[in-house]
Amino acid sequence: MEAQSGDTRFVIVSNRGPVTFSRNEAGEREHSRGAGGLVTALNAVSRRRSEAVWIASAQSEEDVRVAKESLDEPYEVEGLKVVLVEHDGGAYELMYNRLANPLLWFVQHGLYDLPYAPELGDDTKRAWEEGYVPVNENFAEAVARILETSQGGEKPVILVHDYQLYMAPHALRERLGSGADDAFISLFVHIPWPETEGWRVLPSYVREGVLRSLLEADIVAFHTEGYARNFVRTAREVLGVEVDEEEGVVRPEEGREVWVRAYPISIDPEEFEDLARSDEVLQEEESVKNLPGTLLLRVDRMDLSKNIVRGFRAYDRMFERHPELREQVTFLARCQPSRGDIPEYARYAEDIQNAVDEVNEKHATGSWQPVVLSMEDNFPLSVAAYKNYDVLLVNAVRDGMNLIAKEAVVANQKNGVLILSETAGAYEELGEHALTVNPFDIDEQADALYEALTMTDEERTRRAEALEETIRANTIEEWAEAQLKDIAAYRERHG
Ligand code: F6P
Repeated sequence: MEAQSGDTRFVIVSNRGPVTFSRNEAGEREHSRGAGGLVTALNAVSRRRSEAVWIASAQSEEDVRVAKESLDEPYEVEGLKVVLVEHDGGAYELMYNRLANPLLWFVQHGLYDLPYAPELGDDTKRAWEEGYVPVNENFAEAVARILETSQGGEKPVILVHDYQLYMAPHALRERLGSGADDAFISLFVHIPWPETEGWRVLPSYVREGVLRSLLEADIVAFHTEGYARNFVRTAREVLGVEVDEEEGVVRPEEGREVWVRAYPISIDPEEFEDLARSDEVLQEEESVKNLPGTLLLRVDRMDLSKNIVRGFRAYDRMFERHPELREQVTFLARCQPSRGDIPEYARYAEDIQNAVDEVNEKHATGSWQPVVLSMEDNFPLSVAAYKNYDVLLVNAVRDGMNLIAKEAVVANQKNGVLILSETAGAYEELGEHALTVNPFDIDEQADALYEALTMTDEERTRRAEALEETIRANTIEEWAEAQLKDIAAYRERHG
């Protein structure tokens, strides 16, 4: 995707930004990378589109200082133009910790134990009205301000990302006023979209409010055809709007079309090749190489959707069945702290620690620890591990895409085997060359681990090459290009 000066004003909006700022002991400003695969992908887009402005939430105290400095003028960092938005603390807490992450995230990943949870009520309504909606409006305000300061006669393109910002299309149309019709708005949903029955768990004001807002965008995008299809059906079944399932079109009102599309997100292979050679990664690599035996790896945020606990249970079961593998393998589990203020996440972090302790107590010997749990927030260390794994476990309960599977395959130098959950979005592309697992089946995962750890070199090479080829055929470049092409086509059709 080439940068084109004088081109359409181009704004990316996401809750999590590319970097987060802090102060070091000497009082100087520092920054580190934002969490999650979405940031990696948008980073690659933003770098190629040099005029793009990336608007995201201020997360730390230092972010708030940057937010105040970047009100009208983007802050330049690592070649990106970033605007951080300061939200009201209480509103943000309600949006992030009450509405977006437990509720929408759980509904869309199917994580609720429905006979018991969720328990909805007035608190939910408050989180919506005083948290989610105002935070979305605050984002719209920031977008409008940036567009006002950069008026160039070009029609703006506003690419909104993910479930924290479902109300942004509505807020943007309202806030941009008469200019709103000129603005192209897309909303990319990076997480699964459930079938209508799953969506109906939400209270009606959320269920319908979100759908109506999304239908104020011009394109609603997903990672897989399956999620896109579910969305079209949900719109028809919940709102009763006219849809064309074949074409992926929703017609919320006379004369208006919303295109619903699937663009499987990917990575920038070059970025990972460069990273793999970087000094920071080389420094971390020694510690990875020193781990004894074959290296089994997982890299995840500590999220319930990632199925981390069942992964340890399966590893335990594998040793029960194949005790001869003891001392022959180390499981490096890179589990990044995430959303710790939400009780379900705090409990899950404890469950992970307990599951690791159990495996280690049961199988460790004097000279060998079966699982090394690393909770350090250290991206270079993850990349060092990507380079050296023999087997990568991705056994998510459900996952929009799972970019770890793509990043790790490209960086890996050992013909590593990928074990992949059939319910991860990445499965549509990579499943054929991975070992498939049902994320709920511990025995099947134990067997897959054994098969991967004992696979012949020939078979490993064949699979690893096919995986890499598949990923390189659809990089972040193609992901971005496909969207730009559709934006142009949409505009040609609808002005
Ligand atoms: O990809 C899903 C996603 O929720 C992104 O929207 C988000 O940036 C990332 O995972 C990490 O989550 P969080 O921002 O809550 O740490």
